[in-house]
Amino acid sequence: MTPSTEPSVIIKGLGSYTPERVLTNEDLSHMVDTSDEWIRTRTGIRERHIAAPDEATSDMGAKAAKAALKDANMSAEEIDLIIVATITPDMPFPSTACFVQNKLGVKNIPAFDITAACSGFLYALEVASGMLRSGAYKNILVIGAEKLSAITNWEDRTTCVLFGDGAGAAILGRCDEPGCGILGGTLGADGQDYSILYLPAGGSAKPASHATVDAGEHFLQMQGNSVFKIAVRAMEQSANSILERHGVTPDQIAWVIPHQANNRIIEAISQRLGIGMDRFWVNLDSYGNTSSASIPLALDEAYKAGKIKKDDYLLFVSFGAGLTWASTLIKWH
Ligand code: UT7
Repeated sequence: MTPSTEPSVIIKGLGSYTPERVLTNEDLSHMVDTSDEWIRTRTGIRERHIAAPDEATSDMGAKAAKAALKDANMSAEEIDLIIVATITPDMPFPSTACFVQNKLGVKNIPAFDITAACSGFLYALEVASGMLRSGAYKNILVIGAEKLSAITNWEDRTTCVLFGDGAGAAILGRCDEPGCGILGGTLGADGQDYSILYLPAGGSAKPASHATVDAGEHFLQMQGNSVFKIAVRAMEQSANSILERHGVTPDQIAWVIPHQANNRIIEAISQRLGIGMDRFWVNLDSYGNTSSASIPLALDEAYKAGKIKKDDYLLFVSFGAGLTWASTLIKWH
């Protein structure tokens, strides 16, 4: 591939936050008919973090953002746009990004949300990269934050064992060195199969009512099996297409940071891409599936553990409700 003449977009700082309360598989086994053994063998999850009742998505997002600003050695005033990827906004409106802006104590910069479920953070990276390359912005704060515990039916064992709360943030900016940072992304969606993973009520199609609450339609609903099969195929194709587009081969990838939904999905992708599990960063045992927060949480963990080195190729790949999928290829700066 011909070297790009576009300005490079790099990650200048990373941060994350998870709530204090930990809910273990053992705890869940006292709430629904499940066991630590089933959850661990079918998903790989051991525990997850659950936000406090008065802790909103924007609280977690703002904490992750402050950590990312500190890591980038920047002040909030140096940010000129905030994008929050979430499916659990504080309220239907205004955007969670506006709440985060306020909590960071900054004014007069644009702020908006992106809804692409578990692919949200990668969608946001793609949007932010384009806006930085256009020259209109200098530093963009991108956050993936979720309070999935707020939309989980705690009586449904097929879903409540899977999810957790948390937030991850990245500061994106331009850099003069060509050919490094975010090399590119690929996004996909298929609205046809939306009903295998969705939250039926509370929107304009089915406004909240006593009947929708009685029917539990304000909770997330998923046909796990169907999602599983489509996820493996879509993530494999998405990852291969971004690698091919940039002429990077699987053996050149230092780390794959996949969406953390299920260890068996990650193992299937590892096999199909021909990239060993020793090069996949997996932390879902400690956090469960945190949707749009899962990739930035894992990235921050790998980065803080000193595992990511200059010039390493990183591949992010995700799949979620929509259905949506996405991949991002990075040459670490
Ligand atoms: O992040 C967005 C994308 N989401 C995902 O990627 C999730 C994708 N799906 C999955 O990860 C898996 O499908 C699950 C972990 C959700 C389920 O695993 P599975 O191997 O697909 O199980 P299953 O749904 O086929 O259920 C197998 C059995 C069923 O019992 P029967 O019908 O065989 O008697 C379930 O009722 O396991 C039962 N089961 C449980 N048993 C104990 C389902 N949930 C539980 C549970 N504890 N928590």
